Amino acid sequence: MRVRKAVIPAAGLGTRMLPATKTIPKEMLPLLDKPVIQYIVEEAVASGIEDILIVTNRAKSAMDDYFDYHPELEERLKRDHKDAEAKLVRDVANLANIFYVRQKETRGLGHAVWRAKHFVGDEPFAVLLGDDVIRAKNPVLGQVIRAAQKHECSAVGAQEVAPELICKYSSLLVEPLEERTYRVLDMNEKPREDERFSDFAVLGRYVLTPEIFDILENTPPGHGGEIQLTDALGTLAHKKQLCAYNFEGRRFDTGNLKGFLEATIEYALDAPDIGPWLRKYLRERARGLDAE
Ligand code: UTP
Repeated sequence: MRVRKAVIPAAGLGTRMLPATKTIPKEMLPLLDKPVIQYIVEEAVASGIEDILIVTNRAKSAMDDYFDYHPELEERLKRDHKDAEAKLVRDVANLANIFYVRQKETRGLGHAVWRAKHFVGDEPFAVLLGDDVIRAKNPVLGQVIRAAQKHECSAVGAQEVAPELICKYSSLLVEPLEERTYRVLDMNEKPREDERFSDFAVLGRYVLTPEIFDILENTPPGHGGEIQLTDALGTLAHKKQLCAYNFEGRRFDTGNLKGFLEATIEYALDAPDIGPWLRKYLRERARGLDAE
């Protein structure tokens, strides 16, 4: 199984980050000096992906512009002998072959993935959620792809979350296959306390086969009146083997303020240029807070 195409659904309304996301796509908010979406694209490329489809909407054209050339800016930077900056700007546009499709109505993640049907054609493909940034030594999508290849099936990236948080995710019913890999028996989206299968949750990375599109076409709206990828994956798990891979890495939901701040701090602490400054600042600030 070779996986060379990826889909990044990024057409959500971002209502948890308002008012900033009224006009700025949440995927374009900067984590240090790069927008969130660049981390996702870089992970996909590092995992062997060549072609990427970003599912956008009418408020998100800043993403298309970001991955395009910017001749005027590049010329100015070169004229001012800022060759490194000019290269930085150009390199972003050459990261991968990036395509776009619009989701004309916000009808849910399942519907957004379905919009990729023509791009995907007849081969396995990956999905990376546009606001789930995962820090890892080995790119997480690559970890999930290897599990899918080994077991010749669709696969989802998963981790255990705190019991009080499972109501925000898709909860998995699994049985062990081998170290870190499980067979998915069932799953449900944003379960209530008494509905959850486990605290093992799907977190933002998927490897799917094109049969998911037929399933999505026959999946009625579910939680929140939206077409849920989880419901379609549940159907897939009943028909065929679906694996969950307990990936190694720390995942941040940058679509909410706390997750966004955590990601910013963690990346900044390790950044050579500002890490030492931030450590000093945080220590001093914590001493001040203790004294209050
Ligand atoms: P989220 O629920 O995290 O994103 O969807 P959202 O809908 O933007 O969030 P809030 O609650 O309003 O803040 C998970 C992923 O699915 C995409 C989102 O962009 C995100 O990457 N999505 C969701 C779509 O592309 N289309 C949709 O209709 C819904």
